[in-house]
Amino acid sequence: MRTHYCGQLRTDHLDKTVTLCGWVDRRRDHGGVIFIDLRDRSGIVQIVSDPQRTPQSYPDAEFLRNEYVVQITGKVSQRPEESLNPKLPTGEIEIYAETIQLLNGRNKQLPFLVSTSETETVREDLRLKYRYLDLRRYSMSQNLHLRHQVFKAIRHFLEEESNFLEVETPILTRSTPEGARDYLVPSRVNPGNWYALPQSPQLFKQLLMVSGFDRYYQIARCFRDEDLRADRQPEFTQLDMEMSFMSEDEIITLNEALMTHVFKTVKNIDIPRPFPRLTYKESRSRYGTDKPDTRFALELVDVSAIVKDCGFKVFSGAVKQGGIVKVLPIPQGNDTISNVRIKPGGDLFTEATAAGAKGIAYVRVKAGKELETIGAIKDNLSEEQKQQLLELTGAEPGHLLLFGAGDTQTVNKSLDRLRLVLGEQLGLIDPDKVNLLWVTEFPMFEWNVDEKRFEALHHPFTAPHPEDLEDLKNARAQAYDLVYNGVEIGGGSLRIHQREIQEKVFEAIGLSKESAENKFGFLLEAFEYGTPPHGGIAYGLDRLVMLLAKEESIRDVIAFPKTQQASCLLTSAPSEVDKKQLKELEVTSTYKPKPNQQ
Ligand code: AMO
Repeated sequence: MRTHYCGQLRTDHLDKTVTLCGWVDRRRDHGGVIFIDLRDRSGIVQIVSDPQRTPQSYPDAEFLRNEYVVQITGKVSQRPEESLNPKLPTGEIEIYAETIQLLNGRNKQLPFLVSTSETETVREDLRLKYRYLDLRRYSMSQNLHLRHQVFKAIRHFLEEESNFLEVETPILTRSTPEGARDYLVPSRVNPGNWYALPQSPQLFKQLLMVSGFDRYYQIARCFRDEDLRADRQPEFTQLDMEMSFMSEDEIITLNEALMTHVFKTVKNIDIPRPFPRLTYKESRSRYGTDKPDTRFALELVDVSAIVKDCGFKVFSGAVKQGGIVKVLPIPQGNDTISNVRIKPGGDLFTEATAAGAKGIAYVRVKAGKELETIGAIKDNLSEEQKQQLLELTGAEPGHLLLFGAGDTQTVNKSLDRLRLVLGEQLGLIDPDKVNLLWVTEFPMFEWNVDEKRFEALHHPFTAPHPEDLEDLKNARAQAYDLVYNGVEIGGGSLRIHQREIQEKVFEAIGLSKESAENKFGFLLEAFEYGTPPHGGIAYGLDRLVMLLAKEESIRDVIAFPKTQQASCLLTSAPSEVDKKQLKELEVTSTYKPKPNQQ
């Protein structure tokens, strides 16, 4: 039905007769001459129908409306000088329509204007309900094309250059612990039993290593029932990889080559190798987080040692109770940040308290390095403490020092938040910069305050550092995350491949021998049949594409995403099911809608 895509046509095609199919993006009537922007997935081209030059198409052109589906045949012509459009790849040419065939019209009013020339923002719920229209828009179509390019580059590198084999793993499976709740599926033929949708293919990929497929990958769908955010979806796509007989360094080096290939292929960006590495400890100390945005320089400084005995109780008390005092020094902060913003009710105060802090203490460094503070701090620091503070924080006249005091977790969290907000607001972040870095040497476990037990920071199959085996609870893990401009895009580890160590780790996270056997007996058994040393990584592909596309949400790079409430507005999933279906599954619902929901 067609000879070309709209977006392909250039001056090389001049005088060719082409047939195009697509949607009417816009129709403009310029004093008798009708211009149609014709759109397909490749882009837009201008069609002209002129009662003098193309009288046979003119009555049909008059009839066209936005989003009608048409087939147009005509000759490619040079646009006159005054109507060249440098913004459009096809902007040097236009097509004089000899015939216009209406393939399908539109019976309903559009819920929003699809036209790619429309810059007005459309409500996201409308976009999601009419996603098929939203995907016609240029930006969304670009995003899906980019996603495809990324997947293609990954497949090329892994298959053609690195000898990886793609293997599919089950969707109906047992629980795979990655720290979220499972999505469960009842089994009709095994009443009372449930499958879990995989949170990741973790255990299967390890079993594939036991089977000898020493380089596995899969573009895998994962399911996690967790609180949703802009970079989290209940179902999302991972690039999942596992390798045998490779050291941590070898895995990291191979992955740097993979990422460099992806950036070069899809964005023509050269990323220098090796990527920088930070240990978890260093990252938390300097940035307050394990996923630092290193595109800008603001760094936290631990001043606990200086203020631990000072007279200002908020500081000394925090240190005495096992906490810390840290400073975020802001050069020129005196000119750019007012007291109102830091005091209760101010935006920075609100940011810090949302992260758990009680407030923000601050000091302004004035000319001659005099300190200006809200009363109590300055008067309770000795001259020596003041000097040490200035020295350690590198403060110069003009600096604003923002303090966090309290338990380590809260101080880091609140100063990390302030750092990011200020980095953005003070224009310190270059949006075109690409910073990829590894964070390594995560602790094996962290204390879960609510459940009063240790839990695996990565997952319980991660191998402890060989030097730390004696004191497993405080051991470092052989784990690594890849951080891209402050977003965790991937994470992996070397795995345990010996039954005894795996059993010890299960024990450390409070899993009884029976539970471990019941849940993971198949893995423990497999370890006894000759398991190679192995390790791997998984990338959140939606996140990677989101960042490459410079979008704020992963919903904008997924064709049919779910809302923050995990529902699909297009198909109205999840939905109720027939009583008969539930009966067959031997499932009854205990759910009682609240009166105001009925
Ligand atoms: P992890 O749980 O760190 O590791 O997941 C790997 C990457 O997946 C992305 N990600 C998500 N993306 C969108 N929505 C979500 N809900 C979501 N959750 C995670 C992140 C993350 O870095 N099996 C291990 C990998 C391994 O050890 O090999 C795993 O799944 O970008």
